[in-house]
Amino acid sequence: MSAPTHIPVLLQETIETLAVQPGGRYIDCTLGAGGHAAAILDQSSPGGQLLGIDADPEAIKIAKTRLEAYSSSILLVNENFVDLEAICIKYDFLPVHGILFDLGLSSLQLNNHGRGFSFQHDAPLDMRFSPSQEVTAADIINTSSEAELAQLIKTYGEEARSHQIAHRIVQERPIKTTLHLVQTIEQAVGSRRGRLHPATKTFQALRIAVNHELEHLEAVLKQAINLLGYKGRLVVISYHSLEDRIVKRLMQQESKDCICPPGVPICVCGHRACLRLINKIVITPSPREVKLNPRSRSAKLRAAERLIIQDEYYRNAEEHSFSAHSSAKGWRRPALLKKLRVAFSTTLTR
Ligand SMILES: C[S@@+](CC[C@H](N)C(=O)[O-])C[C@H]1O[C@@H](n2cnc3c(N)ncnc32)[C@H](O)[C@@H]1O
Repeated sequence: MSAPTHIPVLLQETIETLAVQPGGRYIDCTLGAGGHAAAILDQSSPGGQLLGIDADPEAIKIAKTRLEAYSSSILLVNENFVDLEAICIKYDFLPVHGILFDLGLSSLQLNNHGRGFSFQHDAPLDMRFSPSQEVTAADIINTSSEAELAQLIKTYGEEARSHQIAHRIVQERPIKTTLHLVQTIEQAVGSRRGRLHPATKTFQALRIAVNHELEHLEAVLKQAINLLGYKGRLVVISYHSLEDRIVKRLMQQESKDCICPPGVPICVCGHRACLRLINKIVITPSPREVKLNPRSRSAKLRAAERLIIQDEYYRNAEEHSFSAHSSAKGWRRPALLKKLRVAFSTTLTR
């Protein structure tokens, strides 16, 4: 039997929208098994460089083996991408030609029965991308109030029956394993009727909450834009509407010169576009790709290109760069500013 693997989603479309070029410098913020990274390295050869980031130490190990042939062109780090700016400064990896996010979890994580991501295999309710995170799915399930659970399942799972599920969970606690949780959900709302298993949305909600996925995505996208050189590309593949909404909203907002509310007669926001949308309509997998890789079915790819830097934007970025994350890592203001200034004044060659 062949080793379990992860098939990279929208691979060709990713390489095209990233506009990968020989000698370019790229960041794969969600390295996973290194499928997209390998294609980026192929396409950027000779001279290409790749910084690969993943919160999961297992993913880093697997990708390291897979990308062995490119060892002199890669830097792989086991970090959370929420600290992207600090990571790039630490490794002096900026500005860059392209940044990729292929969000969510890999097939390797889903199929690893010990991780608790799948409702099809019995395992401890864990769901952390990294063992260094403190809070597991079991902690959330067993310590949240019924109202908190209902809210979480509704917000992050978009589950209409969140109150029934939360009520049943609280009656059934302690719940420590995936199958116990699946049975509890089935007791609350019945077993499978439609296309989706009744536990799908609750599992999605828990995974998002455990890993702070939406907060981290919000926080990292602006950092990513700041790290792109002129004409650098940002490509994001998302797998559910909550992620896609964040990506779409930010890319649309940052591609407009004015973001005043409708009805304001004269612009008062002073906002200047720093992105150009590459694809006005979201890119989705072809029926052929979905047939070959059913896990690609919900994928949505959005891409944008960095415009020349405006002074106003530079000032915003300066403020942004002194976020809690940067200072928590002990980055000193002058050093950070100097590096960002270089990034902002650099036009990448194409
Ligand atoms: C869909 S997989 C990427 C697969 C990869 N593109 C490939 O072709 O093999 C997503 C990966 O992103 C990682 N990930 C998700 N959120 C992260 C975060 N906030 N920081 C770092 N890595 C993260 C997960 O651990 C997972 O390995």
